Amino acid sequence: MKTLIVYHSEHHMNTKTIANVIAPVLDALLVVSPNINTTDLREYDLIGFGSGIYYGKFHEELYTWVNSLPQQDGKKAFLFSTTGSKTNGERAHERFRSLLGEKGFYTIGDFSCLGFDTALSSDGINKGRPNANDLKDAERFAANLVEQIENNID
Ligand SMILES: Cc1cc2nc3c(=O)[nH]c(=O)nc-3n(C[C@H](O)[C@H](O)[C@H](O)COP(=O)(O)O)c2cc1C
Repeated sequence: MKTLIVYHSEHHMNTKTIANVIAPVLDALLVVSPNINTTDLREYDLIGFGSGIYYGKFHEELYTWVNSLPQQDGKKAFLFSTTGSKTNGERAHERFRSLLGEKGFYTIGDFSCLGFDTALSSDGINKGRPNANDLKDAERFAANLVEQIENNID
């Protein structure tokens, strides 16, 4: 199984931390979003999209990239994020999932956890997140994806 993960992480590298845990489980190629110039996804079985949540959304670069892609025919995808607030994360996943759906992707999993956030105050919220438990959850999430694909569970 060949997996490509494209992610954007800029605030405290929280999403990068999660990407670095998920990628080895899936033996995935990990690419930072501004460096992605691939639009041909035919060689990949699974595409992962990861982002911090900024102003309620996955990073604009990921929108730009997805919009630049040709229409897919049920290509399997998964989403992951780190977020200041759980509710905002859920809303952002819904919006990005819907874009992926319009592009013909088929989303087989979502993962999100809290991430250290100093956007609104210098003290910040969610100190220490993602923590060891979040990383364990992320690893479990990735292992589940492998199982789903191998057993062809949709
Ligand atoms: C400019 C900016 C805007 C943000 N907007 C939101 C938001 O709308 N909702 C939210 O829950 N968190 C928001 N956050 C917090 C981030 O989602 C959180 O810190 C995340 O873990 C950052 O991921 P990163 O370290 O990978 O960039 C924002 C952070 C920044 C820097």
